[in-house]
Amino acid sequence: MLDAAFITDDQALFRAGTYAGVRKPLLEASTLPPACYTSPAFYKREVQTIFMKVWNFIGRADRIPNAGDYFTLEFAGVPVIIVRGKDAVVRAFANTCRHRGALLAEGEGNCRAFRCPYHSWTFDIDGSLMVAPEMEQTLDFKPEDWHLTPIRLESWGGFIFINFDSAAAPLMQYLGDLPGKLASYRFEEMACVRRKEYELACNWKIYVENAMEAYHIATVHRSTLSRQKGKPSEAQPSAGEYCGLFKEHKGSRALLAGDTGFPEMDHLEGLPATGSWYPLLYPSTMFGCTYDCMWWLELHPMGPDKTKLIVGSCFPRSTVERADFEEVVQRYYKRWDISIPEDNGISELQQRGLASPFARQGRLAAAEPLVHTFGNWVLDRVLGVTG
Ligand code: FES
Ligand SMILES: [Fe+2]
Repeated sequence: MLDAAFITDDQALFRAGTYAGVRKPLLEASTLPPACYTSPAFYKREVQTIFMKVWNFIGRADRIPNAGDYFTLEFAGVPVIIVRGKDAVVRAFANTCRHRGALLAEGEGNCRAFRCPYHSWTFDIDGSLMVAPEMEQTLDFKPEDWHLTPIRLESWGGFIFINFDSAAAPLMQYLGDLPGKLASYRFEEMACVRRKEYELACNWKIYVENAMEAYHIATVHRSTLSRQKGKPSEAQPSAGEYCGLFKEHKGSRALLAGDTGFPEMDHLEGLPATGSWYPLLYPSTMFGCTYDCMWWLELHPMGPDKTKLIVGSCFPRSTVERADFEEVVQRYYKRWDISIPEDNGISELQQRGLASPFARQGRLAAAEPLVHTFGNWVLDRVLGVTG
């Protein structure tokens, strides 16, 4: 539903003037209009101008450690296969058969080849067509011309990203100075120990905004995270496609107050040695990086009011090898399994409220700088100002 007040049609939805209030400085600014969270046209434009153009985070390479290990996903409506080759290289392919387009693989597993369930065309895990039954009479048909369509995939610190745009700049250029700021966490030496999926009845931006402000902690997490102590979090300068909060404090942020956990990493330097980092890797991945571990919140947009959330938990390999790992890690899981459903619940309530014909733009608190920064980043792309 469009905002009855002033967004009466799709033309108004994409007119820069509609967003004059959002473009003002934080303490004068309005929030994004409700239609940005509910309109199929706005969502479609986000897919075209954001998710089809940027480096989309899709998890850890250690999810598929062995040759032939694969997983599939549907990202912003595009079916993709991620597979590790015999040469140990992780590759991405469009999950659509080169014959008549059937989905080649579903779920995850290990295989030596992908055999299409329709007519048995069979593709090697490097994407080349190995077998195409009964194609001898087809004129000028050369199997080497029918490779699976590759999708760009690059990685950093053990995390993998895909990009649907062949003209996009490399991942490291996209991330800018973020890898340097987070280098001392040594993500490449971590192992992902748990990956959990949720399906949420809310727009992807609602979840990002929630993750990037601490204003709601005293209310939504009143009996859980609000008991953690420390200075207020501060928005950090960024040179790259990210923004981030840093909070100075002592003790792991991945535990509830009163719980003890694993030893802190002894190789943290600079800001990471004094608190926790919460970067948002545009458009829709949030990291929590603290003294003893990191976790990520990865969002896959599925529609204007539907989003998949994936939560991954990573610890240094030396921690994972401890004899007491399985026992102690339960305290971390408890923290995430309490706080994440709290955020999921409030996000779905916000979506329901924003879908009301009486919903209007609101104003922002000083404690919500990155809600403002993020909304303007989205507008820059959707309205075609940059990107
Ligand atoms: S659609 Fe895949 S073999 Fe025919
Ligand atoms: Fe929260």
